[in-house]
Amino acid sequence: MSDATARDRAKEEAGRHAAGYVTDGMKVGLGTGSTVHWTIVELGERALDIICTATSVQTHELATSLGLRVISPDEIGSLDIAIDGADEVDPAFNLTKGGGAAHTREKIIASMTPRFIVVVDETKIVDALGPFGTPLEVLDFAPGVVTNAVLALGATSVTTRERRSDNGNLIMDAQFGSIADPVALATALATLPGIVEHGIFPGSMVERVVVAGLAGVHELVNDRS
Ligand code: 5RP
Repeated sequence: MSDATARDRAKEEAGRHAAGYVTDGMKVGLGTGSTVHWTIVELGERALDIICTATSVQTHELATSLGLRVISPDEIGSLDIAIDGADEVDPAFNLTKGGGAAHTREKIIASMTPRFIVVVDETKIVDALGPFGTPLEVLDFAPGVVTNAVLALGATSVTTRERRSDNGNLIMDAQFGSIADPVALATALATLPGIVEHGIFPGSMVERVVVAGLAGVHELVNDRS
């Protein structure tokens, strides 16, 4: 089996496994990406009596095509659970997200529940956030000013993707090397005018991480007490 095939299988295993946390009557936040894709497929197959809200147009379209009921975050109000992928997970459960340019909506949805469950293949587990880069959603008003401010915070480069977010904003990727204190960096980025949202999710948001790899599925449970 090629590495790519093994990774695809791991994503499917993690994604489907996490759907087991969803039961009838729940209000469910649906993340974006190729791993949570399988959670959504599993939820569709189980035909549970649930109401969902989606973190992207792509997820909204997938979920509705599978027969799931999807309404807006404002309509749903609060969530019993949200399930989403991640680009990096560190030992303190801090996450890098935004590989799919959806991190602003994803952070809003994750903030609507105490039960935020992350699904990843084992390549996403890192000793420290940083190698993936830090995605930033940026207002298209003064991207040069924002870039200079991010460089002043210690980034070595900032690049702009061709693709915009579903909100119509720019998506940039900042390279900070290995990030020693992700929560401090998150706080600093949050103070910069023009950054709509950054892709660092503090570990305090995360209930558990479902990890799949060659040896099967295991869970990392965040002791937040
Ligand atoms: C989208 C995200 C995704 O959750 C993240 O990129 C992981 O995606 P995948 O499961 O396809 O690897 O943050 O903005």
